[in-house]
Amino acid sequence: MAIYLVTGGAGFIGSKLVEDLLQRYDTVVVLDALTYSGRRENLAGSAGNQNLIFVEGSICDPHIVSFLIDKHQPQAFINVAAETHVDRSIDRPSDFIDTNISGTNNLLHAGLKYWQSMTQLQQKSFRYLQVSTDEVYGSIDSGAATESAPFKPNSPYAASKAAADHLVRSYNRTYGLPTLTTHGSNTYGPRQFPEKLIPLMILRALSGQSLPVYGDGKQVREWIAVNDHVAGIIAVLDRGKPGQSYNIGSGEELENVELVKFICQALNSHSANEPNKNFLEKIEFVQDRPGHDLRYSMDCSKAKTSLGWKCITDLNAGLVGVIDWYIDNKIWWEPIVGKQYELTRLGAPKK
Ligand SMILES: NC(=O)c1ccc[n+]([C@@H]2O[C@H](COP(=O)([O-])OP(=O)(O)OC[C@H]3O[C@@H](n4cnc5c(N)ncnc54)[C@H](O)[C@@H]3O)[C@@H](O)[C@H]2O)c1
Repeated sequence: MAIYLVTGGAGFIGSKLVEDLLQRYDTVVVLDALTYSGRRENLAGSAGNQNLIFVEGSICDPHIVSFLIDKHQPQAFINVAAETHVDRSIDRPSDFIDTNISGTNNLLHAGLKYWQSMTQLQQKSFRYLQVSTDEVYGSIDSGAATESAPFKPNSPYAASKAAADHLVRSYNRTYGLPTLTTHGSNTYGPRQFPEKLIPLMILRALSGQSLPVYGDGKQVREWIAVNDHVAGIIAVLDRGKPGQSYNIGSGEELENVELVKFICQALNSHSANEPNKNFLEKIEFVQDRPGHDLRYSMDCSKAKTSLGWKCITDLNAGLVGVIDWYIDNKIWWEPIVGKQYELTRLGAPKK
């Protein structure tokens, strides 16, 4: 039982992490700015849990961060807060620089001051964990990126995450702050904001809209279920070696167009499909995203061998589960898609 500061805990991955930490009776202080993708509803399953403390605020605000540290004395910071959508980063990179780079530096700086004030014993158990992405490695022509692969980010999103990862490394090497970094692969699951590929396709299909696929749709992504990604983050938190980074992926690679076809076929045969529609006919190839990476792939043997972590979710079963979740949870997504947002390239809501 420990006290953790989870920043970005009202988002897709953050809310699952909060849920899993609360299940093992840890106390979780969530700091979340509730941007367009962060929602209190994402934590509704834990409402009333005495071990959950929610505070609305930004990681860019040094006062709120110091206030929370003084008040709750967390044993670890887990930074899940970020601007996360590549399309938005192309339209408006500065938001990504502010939160992903300056916000991370603010947390690291506050974490360092706090860590330096601790006794040696407390210092040993403190951790700063940065949740990052496979996108920092850039497009992988062949093989798979290990943790020592060079960073070659190709979008402003990936570049901002890579910059933050470098800062994390520097706080460890320069000051000795016990940091950890996870590089997660493309993640799917309940409560993912409907601008991301999987929920976007499911919800557009359900509302009879076209299913836009970038370029020829041959971009390969490694898909991991959110429960497996979060189990990886927790394994790194509990057993990771300070100063190290860990790849957290499933090894399940799929072309985007194959993924969209899978969703269409699953929806075609779903009992909710009445009268029977053929969703495959709705696929439309649209102009590619600039700087679009062709393939992401990570070698995750380090996390498997040194932490004993592994994925347990089969991709096909996981995807069917997430399709069912969106069909059954209109109450969650209807208020989002019903809002009058400015549209991004693919017709997804924008802040
Ligand atoms: N979703 C994926 O496929 C994936 C894969 C690998 C890594 N990641 C990483 O995981 C993390 C979470 O991603 P997600 O998909 O859950 O994103 P998300 O957009 O669903 O959630 C981000 C959360 O951060 C909050 N936030 C944004 N700016 C903030 C700020 N300045 N201060 C405090 N809170 C702020 C938002 O309100 C939201 O709750 C990100 O760091 C992302 O880079 C995501």
